[in-house]
Amino acid sequence: MKKIIFVPLLFIMSFAIAQSTSYTEQFRPQFHFSPKNNWCNDPNGLVYNNGLYHLFYQYNPFENVWGHMTWAHATSKDLIRWKNLPVAIKEENGIMIFSGTCVVDKNNTSGFGKNGKPPMVAIYTGHIENVNQSQNIAYSLDDGITWTKYLNNPVLDIQKKDFRDPKVFWDNNKKYWVMLLMLSAEHKVQFYASKNLKEWKHLSDYGPVGDTAGVWECPDLVQVPIEGNSNKMKWLLQMSQNATMQYFVGEFDGTSFTNENSITEIYRPDYGPDYYSAISYNQLPKQHLPTAIGWINNWNYANKIPTTPWKGAMSLPRTLSVKKVNGNWLLIQKTDPALNSLRKKLVTIPDVSLTNNKKIFPAKSTQFELQLSITPLEKNTVSAVRIAVNEDTYFEIVYNNKTQMLSADRSKTGTGDFSEQFKKMNIYEKKIALVNNKIDLQIYFDNSIAEIFVNNGEAVFTFQLFPKKNNVGIEVVSKNKKTRFSNIKFWEIKNIWK
Ligand code: FRU
Repeated sequence: MKKIIFVPLLFIMSFAIAQSTSYTEQFRPQFHFSPKNNWCNDPNGLVYNNGLYHLFYQYNPFENVWGHMTWAHATSKDLIRWKNLPVAIKEENGIMIFSGTCVVDKNNTSGFGKNGKPPMVAIYTGHIENVNQSQNIAYSLDDGITWTKYLNNPVLDIQKKDFRDPKVFWDNNKKYWVMLLMLSAEHKVQFYASKNLKEWKHLSDYGPVGDTAGVWECPDLVQVPIEGNSNKMKWLLQMSQNATMQYFVGEFDGTSFTNENSITEIYRPDYGPDYYSAISYNQLPKQHLPTAIGWINNWNYANKIPTTPWKGAMSLPRTLSVKKVNGNWLLIQKTDPALNSLRKKLVTIPDVSLTNNKKIFPAKSTQFELQLSITPLEKNTVSAVRIAVNEDTYFEIVYNNKTQMLSADRSKTGTGDFSEQFKKMNIYEKKIALVNNKIDLQIYFDNSIAEIFVNNGEAVFTFQLFPKKNNVGIEVVSKNKKTRFSNIKFWEIKNIWK
C-alpha cells in the first residue's frame, strides 16, 4: 500500500520540478526556439512536409556545452510555435552527426521509399574528430521521427579534415539533386550533382572571395524573388565564417554560381554578433516566401553564455527577397507574418520631439516588439533607443546622422562577466542612409535576444544580452541636438511554450 502512494507522489513531484525549471528561467527566450535542456548550435535539415515545418539542429544529448553532435528535432505548423520531438540522428561509432540538410524524396530517386511513401532523406557530414569529414545519408519513413543510416555510407569522401555542411536541393531544370559543400580551409563552395542522392559528381567551385578571415562553413543557396517583381528571381548564396555571415546574389545555371554584386564590399545577412549558420527551408509551399533560420550565438563565447539548463537558440524565421540598390543586390529580410499572431494588445505611443533630452516610455517589458521611426532634425544629431533599461544600465541603438552610422551597443547592459571575449564584442555598426529623412526600426526583444530589423529589412542586427532582472524599461533619447521619434507602436509578445 505504502508503495502505491509513494510512486505517484514521486511522479507528481518530479513533474512539478520539471515544470518549474522548463522555459521559465531568467534568460529563456519565450518566442524564439530553444531546446529544453543542453547545448544546441546550427539549424539543420529545414524542410516542409505534409503541413509541418521541420527543424533539426546540432545538439549535445549529454551536456550543456558543445560535443557528441547529434541531430535533435522539433516541428511546427506555423514556424512560430514548436513541438519538441525525440532526438533524430545519433552519434555512433565515434562519428558525430554534423550539419546538413533534409529533402523529401518525392520521386523516390534514392529507392528508400516503401509502399508509395516517399522517404525524408537527411544529408549530413560524418565527423571523426581531427581525422576526417565525409558526407553521409540517412532516411526516415515516419516523418522524421526515426532514422536509418544508409549502409554504404559515406556517399562522398575526398579524405579531407574540413569538408562539410551539405546543402541539397532538387534542380528542376537539370532533373538532378544539387549539393553545396564547404572546402572550409580553402574558402571554396563546391557544387556536386546526383540523380539518386547516393552517387555524386563534382560540378564546379566558387571562391575564395569576400570575407576569407576564418574557415567557411554552412553554405546555402536558394532562389529568392526580386522585391516588387515577385515572378523574377535571383539566387542567394549565404555562408558562415569567423562567427559572422556573408552573402552573394546572382545566377545559378545548374552547374555553377555567378555573383552579380561588387566584390569590394562585404554583404552580411546580419550586422550583429549573434547570427550564424543560417540556412533556408527546402520544399516550402509555393505561396510561402523563401525563409531562413539562423543560430543565435557566437563561437567566440558560445560555450560560456550564462544560460542553464540550455545554451543556444534559433532566430525568428526570416523571409528572403532581394532589391537592387546603387547597382547591387541587397538582401531584404522580414519576419514571417505568422509571428504577428503572437502580438498582445497594440499600445500606440504619441510622437515625441526631444532636444538633448530623454523620454521614458510608459511600457515596461522584456518580451516585446517595438516599431518606431527616428528623424534627426538638425545636422550632427545623435539619437538613441534604449531597451532593458534600469537607470544607467541599458542596451542602446544609436543613429548618428553626421556619419550615417547605425550602431548597437551592449556594453552598458550591466552583465557580461561570464566571458572576456563577450565583453570585448560590444559595439556593432553599419552605415545606413536615411530614407525620407528617417530610419525605421522594428525591434524584437525576447529576454536575452534582440533582433533589430532596419528600414523594412534592409539590414538586421542580432544580439544576445543578459540584463539584470529589473532592467525592464524602454526609452528614447536625443543625445545631441533635436530628434523626432514617430510611428511608435508597441506590443507585448505572447509566450510560445505555455
Ligand atoms: C558551424 C559548424 C559546422 C559544423 C557544426 C558542428 O557552426 O561548425 O561547420 O557542421 O557547426 O557542430
